[in-house]
Amino acid sequence: MSLALDLRAGDPSRAATPLLAVALGAGDTLPRALTALDRRYDGALSRALRRKDFQGAKDEALLLFAPGAGPERVLLVGMGALDAVKGVTRAATLAGRRANALGVGKMAFWAEGLGDAALEGAVIGVALGAWEFRELHTPPPPAKRKKALATATFCVDNARSARGPLAAGAAVAEGQRITRRLAMLPGNICTPEYLARAARDIAKRHKLVVKVFGRRELTRMKMGSFLAVAAGTTQDPKLIVLEYKGGRRGEAPVAIVGKGLCFDSGGISIKPAQGMEAMKFDMSGAAGVLGAMEAIACMKLRINVVALIGSTTNMLGGEAMKPGDVVRASNGKTIEIQNTDAEGRLVLADVLSYAQKYKPQACVDAATLTGACVIALGNTTVGVLGNDQAVVDEVLAAGRRGGEVGWQLPMFEEYKELIKSDVADMRNIGGRGAGTITAALFLAEFAEGMPWVHLDVAGTAYSESDLVVMPKGPTGTPVRTFVEFVRGRAR
Ligand code: BES
Ligand code: MN
Ligand code: ZN
Repeated sequence: MSLALDLRAGDPSRAATPLLAVALGAGDTLPRALTALDRRYDGALSRALRRKDFQGAKDEALLLFAPGAGPERVLLVGMGALDAVKGVTRAATLAGRRANALGVGKMAFWAEGLGDAALEGAVIGVALGAWEFRELHTPPPPAKRKKALATATFCVDNARSARGPLAAGAAVAEGQRITRRLAMLPGNICTPEYLARAARDIAKRHKLVVKVFGRRELTRMKMGSFLAVAAGTTQDPKLIVLEYKGGRRGEAPVAIVGKGLCFDSGGISIKPAQGMEAMKFDMSGAAGVLGAMEAIACMKLRINVVALIGSTTNMLGGEAMKPGDVVRASNGKTIEIQNTDAEGRLVLADVLSYAQKYKPQACVDAATLTGACVIALGNTTVGVLGNDQAVVDEVLAAGRRGGEVGWQLPMFEEYKELIKSDVADMRNIGGRGAGTITAALFLAEFAEGMPWVHLDVAGTAYSESDLVVMPKGPTGTPVRTFVEFVRGRAR
């Protein structure tokens, strides 16, 4: 499904649209620019505010109808006390979701007076609010089919100056839609091969260089750590590389890296059955990388970016890796596997080692790496760790701009004791404590010498409950963090 986004300047009361969404903050009075609209609605808008039927609270919504020309419905959506960008983004998301659920097909969003960032947020909001995943349901008979939201128009003061934010918002939203769809697809459909296909599609659309390496090449490249995880599946593991060259020739790229476990059963250290189906989301980091590349390429950012994805499925089998096995990663370091469920770091060990070949100006990885991160930070905060404080701060700032807030956890030397092994250079698990930190310290062994930041998105990449502005399932995190980080470094 695709959503067309466009702009309209002029009095919103004259917009012939089935639905006009208007975002207001807590306690706001009706803006002067909407006086004509209010009149067309016989004063219903100002009355709703005066009588407190609508108070502009966060996630509040009130739908009003009027006969005649102009907007057929007005949907008031509340921003609460959120700041302008966050408030508009969230209200727009709710509006997009409501419009899609109503089946009106088209909507308009009142965006006069918004700054560039808020307008971009409104565009992202509407487009993502309208997102839903229906492709694996049998469609209802035509008579019962509701119209998906196909067009969203943003009412602005000046269409020319709004073009940039509209395009940027559309790019980010398209990236996130790709991410959410891939994440939602189950493991039997979204295989490593499927992710490679998705990468090729993006490459083709935007003329990027794409390389896909399978088991044979991984063996040749001595990626013993990655291959250990892939040993339990007959599906071909894939190391997927996408190169976007928007910067100067020869300029060091930003590397973005994603964990792409299309399913994580835990392997021989098998996970409990309860909730195991959620481990189809264990490729959310990879999906985020692909969505970010789509957005970055759409935006034509002037910078070089290389995307790297390690994709396989963590399964049980006669040839599967076992606790106690020792493997050698492509950087030469040996690893004792003490728990086959700590597989993401094994895959990333070789992908990060491979990233080194690009001598990146910075490397940022995203992975649904540890349950411990969900315990430490819950479902709203990304775990952030790294070997370069300046880049960590840059990633944290990028996350804040994109509405994906992160929090840094320490990588103190002392924790390194926890991943020492009797038989190898390191082991793939620490003790019971500090699980997110020991996982990151493990990764750091393969990111030595490059400025590197790790995002643990185990708690934030998908939601097990409906979040008001989005259905349960993938959230699109960490697309915006990646995009904002890269954008911040582009010329
Ligand atoms: N993919 C999981 C982490 C995860 C858990 C993501 C819950 C999302 C929600 C990862 O591969 C894993 O299994 N980690 C283990 C590590 C442990 C064995 C050291 C974990 O967190 O339990
Ligand atoms: Mn696991
Ligand atoms: Zn995993």
